[in-house]
Amino acid sequence: MRTAIAALMLIAGLAGAQDLMPLPASMTAGHGALAIDTGFQITLTGYQEPRLRAAAARVVARIARQTGLPLARAFEPDSSAAETATLVLDTRGPGAEVQTPAADESYTLEITPQQARIRAAEPTGILRGLETFLQLIRPGEKGFEVPAIRIEDRPRFAWRGLLIDSSRHFMPIAVIRRNLDGMAAVKLNVLHWHLSDDQGFRVESKLFPLLQRMGSDGRFYTQDQIREIVRYARERGIRVVPEFDIPGHSAAMLTAYPDLAAGPGPFQIVRTWGVHDPTLDPTREEVYDFLDRFIGEMAGLFPDPYFHIGGDEVNGKQWNANPAIQEFKRAHNMTTNADLQLYFTRRVEELVRKHGKKMIGWDEILSEGMPKDVVVQSWRGAKSLVEAARQGNPVILSSGYYIDLVQPASQHYAVDPLNGPAAELTPEEQARILGGEACMWAEYVNAETVDSRIWPRTAAIAERLWSPRTVTDTGSMYRRMEAVSRELDWLGLEHRRGYVPMLERIAGSAPLDAVRTLADVVEPVKGYARNRARKYTSLTPLNRMVDAARPESDTAREFANLVDRGLGGDKAAMERVREQLAVWRGNDARLAPAYGGSFLLAEVAPVSQDISALGAAGLEALDYIAARKHAPRQWLERQEALIGRVKQPRAELLIMIAAPIEKLLNAAK
Ligand code: ACM
Repeated sequence: MRTAIAALMLIAGLAGAQDLMPLPASMTAGHGALAIDTGFQITLTGYQEPRLRAAAARVVARIARQTGLPLARAFEPDSSAAETATLVLDTRGPGAEVQTPAADESYTLEITPQQARIRAAEPTGILRGLETFLQLIRPGEKGFEVPAIRIEDRPRFAWRGLLIDSSRHFMPIAVIRRNLDGMAAVKLNVLHWHLSDDQGFRVESKLFPLLQRMGSDGRFYTQDQIREIVRYARERGIRVVPEFDIPGHSAAMLTAYPDLAAGPGPFQIVRTWGVHDPTLDPTREEVYDFLDRFIGEMAGLFPDPYFHIGGDEVNGKQWNANPAIQEFKRAHNMTTNADLQLYFTRRVEELVRKHGKKMIGWDEILSEGMPKDVVVQSWRGAKSLVEAARQGNPVILSSGYYIDLVQPASQHYAVDPLNGPAAELTPEEQARILGGEACMWAEYVNAETVDSRIWPRTAAIAERLWSPRTVTDTGSMYRRMEAVSRELDWLGLEHRRGYVPMLERIAGSAPLDAVRTLADVVEPVKGYARNRARKYTSLTPLNRMVDAARPESDTAREFANLVDRGLGGDKAAMERVREQLAVWRGNDARLAPAYGGSFLLAEVAPVSQDISALGAAGLEALDYIAARKHAPRQWLERQEALIGRVKQPRAELLIMIAAPIEKLLNAAK
């Protein structure tokens, strides 16, 4: 088998394989291509099961949609077709009834001009190979085709997840379903479903129906819907790990059952973000009786071997204010609230175990003496990752993968679970690092915008967790991510299609293309800056430019590349820089007449004015550069003031073309 490096060196020669994401462990180019035409047929040999037949039917539907070819009889379940079928799926056995991190996801995809064949030990590997096959389809000279190639592929990490927070903003079933499709397309295999928090408890409980009646504003998943999602995920080789966050982040739960709290009720569903006081009382047996029955019920609903109990961000205020809890701590020689939380976590762990599950929790649960099959999810920094692995616990990384913080894909891509302090671990300790999860916290997203915050950036994290660690070329990643983004759009993800309707609502009477010119070069503020910008609640509309704007401005990134090439002497690139600058310079004049008619547009007027000022500054800089004249000091000072101003966010937006225009100004010095 070829090494990853050899595979990478081959990529340049692998036309058609260039758009694969995540990149396979190894590939070898063949000669020619296999035609995908109306005769396309897919069949199964060896082991058969409904999941494989359903996967084959989905592949046929996707090929039909992608190519427009009528493929009426493309799926032939009878393996006697294996001689002549276009694509043969060949697997030996069923794998585990409930998928675990030990699932064998490896596969071999061999394509010759006569036939394609995917071989895998388990159906899960076939599912992964099918996604690779679909990414290889391209238009050729005589119609659609896939290139002749041999791919041997397997994941680098066993746990490759996406957290979706359905509590802060409820995410309807359709959102979950289409995001499972997206996850499967980039070979992610765990949906971590954050189902309860201060702002909402989102699952029907038959034992404790007040949870959904009082804790959800009527927005929750029925048990039938949960089972349907679990089935839908399993068909795509994805596990569903539920999270019910305790003992903190539990105001919605305590709204329903205030007697479980450490402080006096009644409680209400929380409408704001951050860390709140309502917390379970870890000293009372009724709380464990409740949790025993509750966990038992939910353990029956979610077949995954893991059960997430949260455990993060307990502020301890209710514990400190409760004399009985203070007395309990003294009686049990506990000095800190961390000691008390550890006691709680150990008790909960016993309950989770009793109901046949392994516990997982945020890194606050980390402590010596935690049973060695408890999984730690590292979110506050890589330190806990290393500590957990040293201590003997499996661990997954989310620090660095918080996609709600709207950082560029390149930043997440650079986060490797085994880099940094983890590089110092022994191989045995490193093997405890199971993988990672992208986290889509939902304070600032709703069903309309969530896809645009998950995709396509999560594809970069998916590649980090699947592909060999030597796959690190950011330029290649962005190019392939763009191709994946288009495919996800075809698949039904809404990360692209929400943009124009949102801009239309903002535009009022302004010309849409001018609104778009602005939107294309701004990004939402990063990190936790939105928390500080204004008072948000769960009722605040998410319909402003900051919500429409994409996490990452492709226009700005491409413009920065053009500027670099232009300054490097590429005349054609410089001409395009000039054209682009002229568009920006003239853009505010096109929007200005509409400011009075749309408060959503008026909010971004200062941003628009500065984009036009930047366009003008850039054009003037080009004139100085072309005339080989030094720009006058006064002019430079004015432009530097402009650059200084535009680096400050306004309307929670950042103007992303400031840096390349600053380069032009510097070149005019
Ligand atoms: C977390 O972000 N509080 C896990």
